[in-house]
Amino acid sequence: MRLPTQLTLALSKGRILEQTLPLLAQLGIAPLEDPETSRKLILETAHPSVRLLIIRAADVPTYVEYGAADLGVTGKDVLMEHGGQGLYEPLDLKVARCRLMVAGRPETSIAGRRRVRVATKYVRAAERHFAARGQQAEIIKLYGSMELAPLVGLADLIVDLVESGNTLRANGLVPLELIAEISARLIVNKAAWKMKHESVLTLVDALRAAGAAS
Ligand code: PRP
Repeated sequence: MRLPTQLTLALSKGRILEQTLPLLAQLGIAPLEDPETSRKLILETAHPSVRLLIIRAADVPTYVEYGAADLGVTGKDVLMEHGGQGLYEPLDLKVARCRLMVAGRPETSIAGRRRVRVATKYVRAAERHFAARGQQAEIIKLYGSMELAPLVGLADLIVDLVESGNTLRANGLVPLELIAEISARLIVNKAAWKMKHESVLTLVDALRAAGAAS
């Protein structure tokens, strides 16, 4: 794959990295060091025109929005919270799939309740969801382990990602409502889309083909 300009691609450790690296490897974009163990934040790759930034998942859209990275791979959940301004989202990589759901204890009923308390890391998505169903909700922002909140009376419900459902089950919770199907998305800085169009388009097309093939 020939790229006429240098490209910087932002990724986050964990599920996104694990499931995106095999696609990138098919394009000759293999990091020269193992990103899961290396402490380096900028990794050169086997492709002379592509380098990787390894950052926190929630920061990927920000780096791409400001053009510090030309492209990024991020979950739809993260994009929904960021808002997507300054970004194009040309490709659903269809990896790192899960669902953003409302969950709670099996006996929880919000029917007829004027107001419910909802604990989540996904404040915007939760606000939009409950507003759309006309349910007043007090959203309590947490940074992780949301499943604990209904067990100790912090909240009636949670909004969280569900993949296998094992975390909910292990804590005696059940999924109640689907908010969105989630997967990893390729995002592109709007200026880079114009200024580095040939390189960006080549990479987007190659990733699309790699995804379709696997
Ligand atoms: C996610 C999510 C749930 C769990 C769901 O957390 O927040 O806790 O995975 O997966 P399951 O349905 O297969 O049990 P993750 O492990 O990504 O860590 P996080 O809390 O840092 O998001």
